[in-house]
Amino acid sequence: MKTKLQISRRNFLGAMIAAGVAPQFVPARVFGQNAPSKKIQLGHIGNGGQGTGLLRNFLSVDIATSVAVCDPFRQRRENAAKLVKAAQGHDPVLYNDFRELLADKSIDAVVIASPDHWHVPLGLAAVRAGKDVYIEKPLGKSLNQNRAMLEACKKTGKIFQYGTMQRSQEMLKRGIELVLNGYIGEVQRIEVWAPAGHGGGSLDEIPVPDGLDYDLYIGPALMKACSKDRITNQGSYHCSDYAIGFIAGWGAHPLDIAIWGSNSDQAGPVTFKGTGNFPTPNALFDCCATWDVDIKFADGVAMHFMSHEIAEPIVKKYRQNWCGDGTTFYGPKGWISLSRGGVAASNEAWFKETLPADAKHVHYHNRYYKHFCECVRDRAPSISPIDHAVRSDAISHLSLMAIKTGGEVVWDPKEYKIKSPDALNAQMGIQVRGAWQQA
Ligand SMILES: NC(=O)c1ccc[n+]([C@@H]2O[C@H](COP(=O)([O-])OP(=O)(O)OC[C@H]3O[C@@H](n4cnc5c(N)ncnc54)[C@H](O)[C@@H]3O)[C@@H](O)[C@H]2O)c1
Repeated sequence: MKTKLQISRRNFLGAMIAAGVAPQFVPARVFGQNAPSKKIQLGHIGNGGQGTGLLRNFLSVDIATSVAVCDPFRQRRENAAKLVKAAQGHDPVLYNDFRELLADKSIDAVVIASPDHWHVPLGLAAVRAGKDVYIEKPLGKSLNQNRAMLEACKKTGKIFQYGTMQRSQEMLKRGIELVLNGYIGEVQRIEVWAPAGHGGGSLDEIPVPDGLDYDLYIGPALMKACSKDRITNQGSYHCSDYAIGFIAGWGAHPLDIAIWGSNSDQAGPVTFKGTGNFPTPNALFDCCATWDVDIKFADGVAMHFMSHEIAEPIVKKYRQNWCGDGTTFYGPKGWISLSRGGVAASNEAWFKETLPADAKHVHYHNRYYKHFCECVRDRAPSISPIDHAVRSDAISHLSLMAIKTGGEVVWDPKEYKIKSPDALNAQMGIQVRGAWQQA
């Protein structure tokens, strides 16, 4: 029987999830109580490099069991199934087609680690089929996809957790709390950098390899001849048929830290201006590989978003332990620089200080994958929710638009539209192939 406390906790959390609200500061007492005994049933969609890594992580979560694997590469889903058998002793169901997996009502949640162009179509299909979703970064192939995912999560009340697992790194959480508690004063500017992409990639046609359902792999993207690089993760990271490049694919991680360190009600970015390089526009890997973009937020905060080789001389001037990705917050009282590879600050002692009793704390869990399963179980919002994913991914999309136009792009984050140049609003969506139109 439900107690009064349980009911009010569920109502509170349900309302937050349904509203798509990111609970930046949430009282700890509302989480993790009164667990039902049934294990969370997980399906794993996309069993390549990252999907296999995620599978290994979820296999060690004691409150979940992996009951299905799915990949249009037969060998990959078979390998994933072997891992499940070895770790949990049972045979998962193997699927080529995710729609069949999603039709299984016993599956509570899915872990999506497909190429980028599939993230939102798969995510939408999953939440509409009643599943909670863990979705790899970056979010969508277009700004419109991102809004559709946000709206679908709000409408269905499904849990969303983004593939930005550094939110479970203690030192990063610590750094964010220092920023949010004013150790550097009001944030004035933020530097964000990430590894550059690269060009190259063969377009030479090869026969579709045995065991691959190529039509399902390409899915909503335009059908193109199979080449050896197109069906690797390099193809899905650096080819514009499937991704917008590392400006989103890698940029997602340090941008996520920037959004984490912003007040949740802060107005989003409003202007973008910058340059970038497309080293091989006629090869397979035709995405923007390097970028240097100046961004302004409505509250006056300036962001400098760069690929690593542009950032390196700038960051090395103040930060000795250089990392290829990072986020530095500057205020009148100093700076705090956070990377999954290490942290630094103008005053390193801050990292050891005890925060005051009334300090703000972020919604945090030190086990990212277990946390997702607990959220599914408890109907609790995740520490990396959909609205944060939409905000950080928008920065990548709008930065790329600014690079391509060469002028200033003005964004209205509240209306979720481009104020100028108006013509760019037509580029907020993407062309979708035939039957995938509804996705
Ligand atoms: N969070 C991180 O740190 C991190 C690290 C690496 C990759 N990633 C992300 O993970 C995703 C996958 O990257 P990867 O390196 O594993 O690529 P990958 O090519 O190794 O794996 C992707 C897999 O998805 C499968 N796939 C394609 N279409 C599918 C469909 N319709 N249904 C199910 N599976 C489908 C492919 O066959 C492939 O096996 C990318 O979006 C990437 O950005 C995240």
